Amino acid sequence: MREGMRHRPGINMTAGSPVGQTLHAQGARNLRAAVAGLRGEVRFKASLKDFTSFRIGGPADALVIPADLEDLCRLMRQVHDAKVPLFVIGGTNLLVRDKGIRGVVVNLAKLNAIHDEPDHVVYAEGGVGMPTLMKHAISRSLSGLEWAAGIPGTVAGCVVMNAGTRLGEMKDALKAVRLVDPRGQVVDCPASAVRFTYRRALLPRGIVVGAWLQLKPGSREKIEGVVKEYLRRRRDTQPLALPSAGCVFKNPPQDAAGRLIEAAGLKGARVGDAQVSEKHANFMVNLGQARAADVIALIKKVGRAVEEQTGVTLELELKIVGQP
Ligand code: EPU
Repeated sequence: MREGMRHRPGINMTAGSPVGQTLHAQGARNLRAAVAGLRGEVRFKASLKDFTSFRIGGPADALVIPADLEDLCRLMRQVHDAKVPLFVIGGTNLLVRDKGIRGVVVNLAKLNAIHDEPDHVVYAEGGVGMPTLMKHAISRSLSGLEWAAGIPGTVAGCVVMNAGTRLGEMKDALKAVRLVDPRGQVVDCPASAVRFTYRRALLPRGIVVGAWLQLKPGSREKIEGVVKEYLRRRRDTQPLALPSAGCVFKNPPQDAAGRLIEAAGLKGARVGDAQVSEKHANFMVNLGQARAADVIALIKKVGRAVEEQTGVTLELELKIVGQP
């Protein structure tokens, strides 16, 4: 690598050829234009490992943590004008490939405000963690989020994937969603205009930056009791001490992926440092240095074995992103 190139973002590079170098320079200019003048944090070639619960993932060309909603709107406009790809990283149900993500990766960590509104409605910005929102609801004796006990994701992530457990799902509490559209405009969308399916919300194009949740008054002790019991059950059955991305596969109708994987004899199966958890077979854990390629190979191995032995084709719940 030539001196001076080291800190430049690598976009569309065809090494060596003059055309490749022109494309590279153009890509780098576009990337700089996309993130110019932002007040938040911008890091080039930032490792995404620390932004995923799996602790796996290659670099983002540029990682941006906008300072606030206005800063995010500016980023959206600039990204649109510069025609740079954009990806929002929540980080909990996600596997980032080893070569990382091209373009801008945005993290909403600083959009972390919670407001109480009349009639037991709570507004939470997209970067608020579900455990924080849960604590807020408990402190106000508000019921309606108990189903989310132990879900580590952000509010935005939980809206986008209609996160849920056997006790309920995001759509049950959602009143409306705030998005920033690809041109940087703020758009509010009632939940009645969104179609929800199993682990997916079909939203207008844009980034989810906040959600209004319709809760109901309840007994603080009762809510806390349900949450504690649910957290205890999770701790007993799930490998929460090791990095993972939660459940890897969706549950097939009338069955459980974990049961099928265990029945196929795959608990403890390994590729490199990626392992099918000994505690819950629908979790894969990172024993230390697992690469995305190891996890993907393990997913294929599990999928094949379950299909051969039970005839069931497992579908991924985990989202896999980044450059193949
Ligand atoms: N099971 C096994 N072996 C295992 C794991 C599970 O036989 O290794 C059996 C259990 O004995 C039980 C059944 O499979 O009869 C279901 O297991 P569990 O109660 O643990 O629930 P799950 O269906 O595997 C779902 C969600 C979890 C959520 C739990 C608790 C999905 C895909 N998974 O798991 O969500 O935490 O219920 O509500 O919907 C996630 O989405 O990332 C996630 C972990």
